[in-house]
Amino acid sequence: MREYIVAVVGASGAVGEEILRVFEEIEFPLKKMVLLASSRSAGNTMRFKGREIEILELTHDVFSEQGIEIALFSAGGSISAEFAPSAVDAGAVVIDNTSHFRMDDDIPLVVPEVNPEDIALYEAQGIIANPNCSTIQMVQTLKPLDEAFDLVRVDVSTYQATSGAGKEAMRELVDQMQDFFAFQLDESKKEAFVHQIALNVIPQIDKFTDSGYTKEEIKMVNETKKILHKNVEVSATCVRVPVLRGHSESLTLTFDSEVSAGEARDILKNAPNIIIQDAPDKSYYPMPIECVDQNETFVGRIRGDLYRNNVLHLWVVADNLRVGAATNAVRIAQKWVQMQQR
Ligand SMILES: NC(=O)c1ccc[n+]([C@@H]2O[C@H](COP(=O)([O-])OP(=O)(O)OC[C@H]3O[C@@H](n4cnc5c(N)ncnc54)[C@H](OP(=O)(O)O)[C@@H]3O)[C@@H](O)[C@H]2O)c1
Repeated sequence: MREYIVAVVGASGAVGEEILRVFEEIEFPLKKMVLLASSRSAGNTMRFKGREIEILELTHDVFSEQGIEIALFSAGGSISAEFAPSAVDAGAVVIDNTSHFRMDDDIPLVVPEVNPEDIALYEAQGIIANPNCSTIQMVQTLKPLDEAFDLVRVDVSTYQATSGAGKEAMRELVDQMQDFFAFQLDESKKEAFVHQIALNVIPQIDKFTDSGYTKEEIKMVNETKKILHKNVEVSATCVRVPVLRGHSESLTLTFDSEVSAGEARDILKNAPNIIIQDAPDKSYYPMPIECVDQNETFVGRIRGDLYRNNVLHLWVVADNLRVGAATNAVRIAQKWVQMQQR
């Protein structure tokens, strides 16, 4: 089987580190792993499959110099905008974790469990976009239910972990809690979020748009439609919570047909990479603390509406660094490799 030279751009970041862990765990025809980051981390090493690999500085030429064939970008939107074209010019396929290319008409936005066929559209630009972390776990849940009951509307509230904003943001939550116990919270750094995150919840992720919704909320609206290829109504409220890892979502779904909790549970039980945790009598339901390092999306609290027989309520949790970023990107790479071998 042909093996590939893979680069992780932003290897030292929260998502980059996780991409390396996923590559360590899965079967992948890997010839060589190249780690790229800024000059700040260049020269440092990271452990991969029992070996120390030196981080190289991201430059326009590094992709051709290293013979990169698959480049996974997670170093921020402006970095992708500037350097992804150089990777493509050097002959690589780019799998981009940032929001930069997601809504471009000729760039596929892919969740392998939902729209793997869209990967074939990568040829137009050489780029495949990875959706927003909150969108990925949601559409994995929506797709099988849409096929069965014809989804017309999604109302979602998210409870998003600090790691969704990167490594520094995780550190800020921990530091603020330590400062709280040292009676120094007033002096604590509060830079990663618009307000203190320790002992708080913040109903704002990213900037507000003129619509009254934040950019994060609008991403969930637009990305869901693009991935499902359906003009479904979506209304989102995105909230940052003082959790390190794992995004939770409360979903209210309205369908064209009648739906029951039992039928929905049976359908989701057979859906790819979804695990049902739903035994309310035992207080058994998904929680972020238990989804860490997992590559599946967990669904529970599945229940009908008290008033309408075409409405369903669910609770969905996944590791945002894995399912919401690294695992999805690596699964796209796996599918792309399979396509090349046909
Ligand atoms: N966290 C999530 O759940 C999540 C989910 C989906 C998508 N994303 C997206 O993925 C991207 C990275 O997120 P993250 O959470 O991993 O952030 P992070 O922890 O802050 O890591 C940022 C990474 O980008 C690198 N970088 C920054 N500036 C660079 C430059 N000028 N040249 C080369 N490398 C540079 C950093 O390298 P240095 O160590 O050298 O600074 C680091 O490796 C963001 O666009 C984010 O929106 C994140």
